[in-house]
Amino acid sequence: MKNKKQHKNSSKTIDTLLIENRKFKPKDSFKKQANVRNADIYKTARKNPVKFWEKMASELVWKKKWEKGLIWKAPDARWFDGGKLNVTESCLDQHITNGNRNKAALIWEGEPGDKRTFTYYDIYRDVNKFANALKSLGVKKGDRVAIYLPMIPEIMISMLACARIGAIHSVVFGGFSPESLKDRINDSQVKLLITADGGYRKGQVIPLKHDADVALADCPSIEHVVVVNRGGFLLRFKEGRDHWYHELLEKADSFCKPTYMDSEDPLFILYTSGTTGKPKGIMHTCGGYLTGVYATTKYVFDLKNDDVFWCTADCGWVTGHSYIVYGPMANGATQVMYEGTPNYPDKNRFWKIVEEHGVSVFYTAPTAIRTFMYWGREYPDGCDLSSLRLLGTVGEPINPEAWIWYNEVIGHKNCPIVDTWWQTETGHILITPLPGLTTTKPGSATFAFPGIEAAILDENGNEIKNGGGFLAIKTPWPGMLRGIWGDRERYVETYWTKWKDIYFPGDGAKIDSEKYLWILGRVDDVINISGHRISTMEVESALVEHESVTEAAVVGSPHKIKGECMVAFVTTLKSKKSESELAKILTDFVSHKIGAIARPEKIIFTPDLPKTRSGKIMRRLLKDIASGKVLGDTTTLADPNVLSKIKSKYED
Ligand code: WTA
Repeated sequence: MKNKKQHKNSSKTIDTLLIENRKFKPKDSFKKQANVRNADIYKTARKNPVKFWEKMASELVWKKKWEKGLIWKAPDARWFDGGKLNVTESCLDQHITNGNRNKAALIWEGEPGDKRTFTYYDIYRDVNKFANALKSLGVKKGDRVAIYLPMIPEIMISMLACARIGAIHSVVFGGFSPESLKDRINDSQVKLLITADGGYRKGQVIPLKHDADVALADCPSIEHVVVVNRGGFLLRFKEGRDHWYHELLEKADSFCKPTYMDSEDPLFILYTSGTTGKPKGIMHTCGGYLTGVYATTKYVFDLKNDDVFWCTADCGWVTGHSYIVYGPMANGATQVMYEGTPNYPDKNRFWKIVEEHGVSVFYTAPTAIRTFMYWGREYPDGCDLSSLRLLGTVGEPINPEAWIWYNEVIGHKNCPIVDTWWQTETGHILITPLPGLTTTKPGSATFAFPGIEAAILDENGNEIKNGGGFLAIKTPWPGMLRGIWGDRERYVETYWTKWKDIYFPGDGAKIDSEKYLWILGRVDDVINISGHRISTMEVESALVEHESVTEAAVVGSPHKIKGECMVAFVTTLKSKKSESELAKILTDFVSHKIGAIARPEKIIFTPDLPKTRSGKIMRRLLKDIASGKVLGDTTTLADPNVLSKIKSKYED
């Protein structure tokens, strides 16, 4: 029954999306003070996008100016070619001399309630020291460093310390399992790992170092491990390989000369789910990426010197890279960082943080907003949220009901909402309102950012002027991915073969009569669970690795809070265990293989899966079942009876 209800809800959402015509104009008081007040910015940028981005780049610190704004030979872009820089000079050094030296850069709260504040000078000094420490452990320009940390200040310091010496960081979300960490380390041959004794989540300690040790049993490229002492948790130390972060810092010099990089040298790799079982190492470079995140932070979040910005993402995802570390730091922002969950110790934790630190710009995911809605408005209502002046969302489509709730209950109808569309691959926001200019419609990410050309195309690349199709980005942008680590073919195949020389993000979208863009979600085997991308194929491969499973098919299904969830259809060997016992074993197994975020919501045991005569599993039909939809074309099924059995089992 639950599924039927979910379906009703999801179709209601889509219906509402279709008829959504409420409009919200920015208030005069906001417009007057906005960083962008003149709509000509769109025209100017369209006329000469490269010039627009060059102007943005010129606001950053360069060691040597670029010779050419853009060299584009699809699918390869070189932005600010010939330029030299070290991104930490824009994020840190400039603030030491421009009046921001003693400004709070980071106001941090641990989940148990411990607090630390870092000025720009504090971060600058620790980054320099840690950069020297990394050097002393043999890390050189171009080497890969993995970061497996909780949301503590050291995650930002570690990323910037890598950037200081030209090492390529690869942050692995702390919620990923040892197996996932191992795969990511081995894929890019990581030399050094930075982790912590543990971190707090939901009142529990996540034993990161212990998990890292499990992974490292099988990571021959790792030479050293640096361990941050988060909470004095017990751990095992491997002499010679493991080092305490604080001891390294004590010994290190407080200045590390930045390593100057070519604009196109790599800055980081970040793994994300693709349509096959293997995650892709998305590569980003220095000059273009920094320009993109700097410009979007400044214009989309409208940051001012006295703002307090809070992006609730984890640095393990791209949102944390772009809108906690690089974008806000390049803008000299004051930000809040929080280690734990929104309901610890109580469901008002986020709002208490907003109240206590006077957060003015708040950026979170629709799944969080839906959770807050579900918990009830008494939690935000009990806190003073009057410091808020701008709200943002990212990660998945926001349903208009959640948008309206966000506007009324959190923003008190006083804050513009920026619904920002982008991806790990795009590096920075590409589709978004500009808060002082754009009239918003709940559920629409509105228009492409200046300098970006987005369109809705059909399968053949014809532009759709009013209606649904695939989202496409028609021209290069500075923060675009430059490839997938070690897999050129997959890069070309995934993003650049659907249409000629046009980027295919993998999202379905529609455009309305007023040219507003509405992102509808993934069109491939990637699903968005609570704003996190998980590949159904990755979960299938994990399931079939279990000894009892013979075949598995995993599909997405609508979910009231998470947006989407995963339903697994599996066939198993004969077992003495009950279905519920087996379901628990398999969910734990997936969690162990990938991480808790990849746990299927529901496992359906079936003697057979629907297949074509050639033996291909028809996931499309399973998806129809899991979404409560009318079944699509079943004529190519080898055995149509299979389907009705699965369907009745699912609906049980
Ligand atoms: C989805 C997160 C609708 C989309 C920054 C995209 C969105 C995927 C939005 C990227 C939005 C992100 N509205 N859908 N405002 N923002 N998405 O790589 O499907 O974790 O392709 O990057 O999230 O997820 P990723």
